[in-house]
This record gives sequence, C-alpha cells and structure tokens, in this order.
Amino acid sequence: MNIRQYLSSSLGKKQLISLTGLGLILGFLTPHLMGNLFLLKGPAFFNGYSDHLHSLGLILVGIECLFLLLFIVHIILSILVVIENRIARGKPYQRPLVAEKRSIAARTMPYTGTLIFLFLIIHLFDFKFAKHSPPTSVINGHDLGLYGVVINAFNSPLRLLSYGLIMIMVGIHLSHAIQSVFQTFGLKNERIAFWVNLLSYAVGTLLSIGFISILVFVCLQY
Ligand code: HEM
Repeated sequence: MNIRQYLSSSLGKKQLISLTGLGLILGFLTPHLMGNLFLLKGPAFFNGYSDHLHSLGLILVGIECLFLLLFIVHIILSILVVIENRIARGKPYQRPLVAEKRSIAARTMPYTGTLIFLFLIIHLFDFKFAKHSPPTSVINGHDLGLYGVVINAFNSPLRLLSYGLIMIMVGIHLSHAIQSVFQTFGLKNERIAFWVNLLSYAVGTLLSIGFISILVFVCLQY
C-alpha cells in the first residue's frame, strides 16, 4: 500500500488522527499545562519560564510550526472521517444491525473538537497575540508582564466561565483519545480494554483538572 492509498483509506486517516492527537497531548498540551502551572508560583517564576522559552528564538518558532502542522493534519483528517462516516451511514447496507455501544466522549468527538478549535482561535488572541506590556500587564500599578496579562484576562467572569467549560470539553475529548490510539492500531483487546479505558479517562481528567486548577487559583488569589 502506498501513501496515497493509505491516506485514502479510513483506517489510515484514523491512525494519523490518533498519532497527531497523541503527539499534541504528549508534546504540546502536557508541557503547556506544566508551564502554566508556574502561574501558581508567582510572576517572577512564570515570567522567567516564559522568557526562557522565548529566548529559544528560531528553535521555538520551529517547534511551534511543527505543532501547528500536527493541529492542521489532525483537524483536516477528522473532518474528512466525519464526512465519510455521514455518507456511509446514509447507505442502508452500511448501517449496523445492533446499535454500537460507544461512550459519550466517543460520540461527541466532532462537537468537542469543533469547540476546542474555536476556543483555540480566541485563546491565541487572548494571550499569544495580545500585548504583553502595559496597560494589559499591569496589576495594582505593577507591570507583571505575561503573568499580569493572564491574571487580568481572567478578571472577566465571562472569560473565566467559558474557559472552565472548555477545559471540561478538553477533558471529555481527551478521555477518548488514548483508547482511540490503541483501537486504531488494533492494540485494544478484551484482556486490556479495562486498563486502556482507565488510562484514557485518567489522562483526560488529569489534564482537565490541571487547567481548571489554574482558573481556581486566579479566582481565589485575585
Ligand atoms: C487555563 C488554561 C490555559 C491557560 C492559562 C493558557 C495560557 C496560555 C498562554 C499564557 C499562552 C501564551 C504563551 C506565550 O505567548 O508565550 C498560551 C498559548 C497557547 N495555548 Fe494556552 N492556556 C490554557 C489552555 C490551553 C489549552 C487547553 C490549549 C489547547 C487545547 C491551549 C493551546 C494554546 C496554544 C496552541 C498556544 C500558542 C502556542 C505558542 O505560544 O507557541 N491552551 N496559552
């Protein structure tokens, strides 16, 4: 099978969706959570971490481009698979005789995925493309750089609430992700299914709670 045939097959697309998703969880989302947890240690710590990242210059730009590519491949292939499934479901002989038993997380993947995508656009404008200087970075008369920008952003109850809801969506989306990797590569059998599901739910729950803890910290501190 050549790369064209692999990509046009449903399994090929699903395997690439799983791999890009796994790459994003391990390579981007987990380190992103770790970095953001430095907010809890105060402005000097968090800004120091951010400055260190930015001092990487072109290396950081290269890594960002790689993750952007993973996001794009993940999203485009997911859209294609959803369309293919919709078309297949329309054909009577493709309909399963017994309704498939799929978790809520699995059934809502396209919806939680779309919400996360829309969130990402707003999120980049909130923090990445926002000015990291006064007046947005000032708290109680002190310029606190990116730390100040994040804390000031979460002073808005609407943003705080919408971030909280989206972090729950992220948790639901990810709680299907690890299972999906095992499934698409034929590694999930009845013997390990319980542990694979548990691992998947644990990853989704831990990342979600981790991000939400940042929002709770901002609420309690400021
Ligand atoms: C409480 C939750 C979160 C906080 C406080 C937060 C904070 C931040 C901050 C401060 C930046 C700007 C970094 C910089 O310019 O140096 C950023 C960038 C970014 N965040 Fe988040 N984030 C959160 C959740 C998420 C989630 C759940 C995702 C993905 C689903 C995400 C994806 C991104 C992306 C793609 C970038 C741009 C990456 C880059 O700067 O290279 N963030 N975030």
